[in-house]
Amino acid sequence: MKIFITREIPSPGIELLKKKGYQVSVYNKDKPIPRKDFINEVKNCDAVISLLTEKIDKEIIDKMKYCKVIANYAVGYNNIDFEYAQRKGIVVTNTPDVLTDSTADLAMSLVLACARRIPEAEALVRARKFKGWKPQLFLGMELRNKNFGILGAGRIGTEVAKRAHAFGCKIIYYSDIKNNFLETKLKAKRLSLNLILKQSDIISIHLPLNKKTYNLLNETNLRFLKKSSIIVNTARGEIVDEKVLIYMLKTKKIFAAGLDVYEDEPNIKKEFYNLDNVILLPHIGSSTTEARNNMSLLAAKNVIAVLSGKKAITPV
Ligand code: DGY
Repeated sequence: MKIFITREIPSPGIELLKKKGYQVSVYNKDKPIPRKDFINEVKNCDAVISLLTEKIDKEIIDKMKYCKVIANYAVGYNNIDFEYAQRKGIVVTNTPDVLTDSTADLAMSLVLACARRIPEAEALVRARKFKGWKPQLFLGMELRNKNFGILGAGRIGTEVAKRAHAFGCKIIYYSDIKNNFLETKLKAKRLSLNLILKQSDIISIHLPLNKKTYNLLNETNLRFLKKSSIIVNTARGEIVDEKVLIYMLKTKKIFAAGLDVYEDEPNIKKEFYNLDNVILLPHIGSSTTEARNNMSLLAAKNVIAVLSGKKAITPV
């Protein structure tokens, strides 16, 4: 059986598939596969391992004549019209759990880097401008006793909350569903989105992107943020209206933002580059050797399970 992988991924999953006797082919250029090549490849394969850079819409799905499973190499699957795929009898899987700690670590790194203005301070030293200790050099903000607002209390949101709690923050969260762990172990409070935005000193976004969360943070509610607040996004760029965020940063209506994701990746609005109160990372939330190897293995195991007639391990 033939498996197509849309880009070179870490080897554990590929090796496992080969060991099991599957014929594996990989688009081996270091860029997203052009759509026409993708269409060509999916016509004859039994399974696809895809990245979040591939838009898998109705047109592509209609070409998948033999495909039984699309294993997305990401926890987010907003790149796939999964409802249509399911209607066509194709199982869609993702890679939850294995990247939770890596993404939570990165979200906390962004919080700390914003709070202590690490990129600005480091740039000063590199520019050979450090002239000695100063009482007010790069004044930042402590985390202890701050209100830490978690938007989306799933796996990653919960791990970020644990980390923030360990730093002495008070956790408040926005979620459709009550998170018993957060409430009992971390004494967290579930609040409305507007109240979270009004009360938080730090906000970290951990929601999936869907119709409900597209531009969830927008002109109407971003103005509730405190002037001293920090907002971090390691989820999906489209959850925040970037034009409004840029305005808030430019006019110092918030303290800082830490972004790992953008509305139109890999394009980043040019205004961001001129702001010193935003930290810009290139979508590296899950980029640790541990997470990426395990994502590779999990995607492969999902493919093997479905092609052997078993239930997928992590269907969406
Ligand atoms: C995901 O998994 O959705 C991340 O954005 C990339 O690992």
